[in-house]
Amino acid sequence: MPPKPEGHYLSRLNGDFISKASVFRMIREFARYSNIPQGYYMEFGIMNGGTAISAYRQLRGYVTDIYGFDTFTGHPAQQEEDKIRAEFAPYFFEGNYKAEGADYCRKTIRAETLIADENIHIYEGLFSDTLPTVDLSKLESNGFPICVMVDCDLYSSAVDVFQFLTPILQTGTWLLIDDFWCYRGDPKLGVRRAFEEWLQDNGRINVTLYDNFNAYSRAYICYEL
Ligand SMILES: C[S@@+](CC[C@H](N)C(=O)[O-])C[C@H]1O[C@@H](n2cnc3c(N)ncnc32)[C@H](O)[C@@H]1O
Repeated sequence: MPPKPEGHYLSRLNGDFISKASVFRMIREFARYSNIPQGYYMEFGIMNGGTAISAYRQLRGYVTDIYGFDTFTGHPAQQEEDKIRAEFAPYFFEGNYKAEGADYCRKTIRAETLIADENIHIYEGLFSDTLPTVDLSKLESNGFPICVMVDCDLYSSAVDVFQFLTPILQTGTWLLIDDFWCYRGDPKLGVRRAFEEWLQDNGRINVTLYDNFNAYSRAYICYEL
């Protein structure tokens, strides 16, 4: 049995690195300076909504809608590719990061941000089941994709996410890859592998690096090819 994760491990590391909140503040400045209109924040692996709330606090006035996706039961069963060198990422086992639930996530976001219920869009279930149900024209009517956070840890999950994002991302969208430096930094594994394969293959979007942040994460800005 893998060791139990330390609850506040990353929050303790936060002080030593550029924090998530600092990146969100940069995105606010970027939106102001780059004539970016209002729009939405999207998070894949939203869990209990903590990061989405932090994003909204920094991006108030720019972000009108929050989209969040999660099983809320924790990581799904690992696929074959997720099992390669699984010992490099001992916290990514099935059921880990189980959240309080979709309702809790929605209520917490509402209470902490005061966003209207209709502007909080929570999708419960596997990405492979929920992403095909998203109405892309409705999404477009909710404005600019200001910031997309990919925090789903597993290669197989990230493949679904990047495929979904291909038609959505725009020049100026911030793409935050939470798990970039996981798996001992091996680019052939995890979310980073899915990200690099998608960059090679998608044919529509490329990214320019902003910085590393929050210990394991990387911030990019998208541009259309
Ligand atoms: C590290 S946690 C996210 C933490 C959260 N972003 C935060 O900052 O509080 C990773 C999340 O990804 C979710 N996840 C991973 N693969 C998924 C999939 N295929 N479909 C839906 N959710 C998935 C897990 O349920 C888990 O909640």
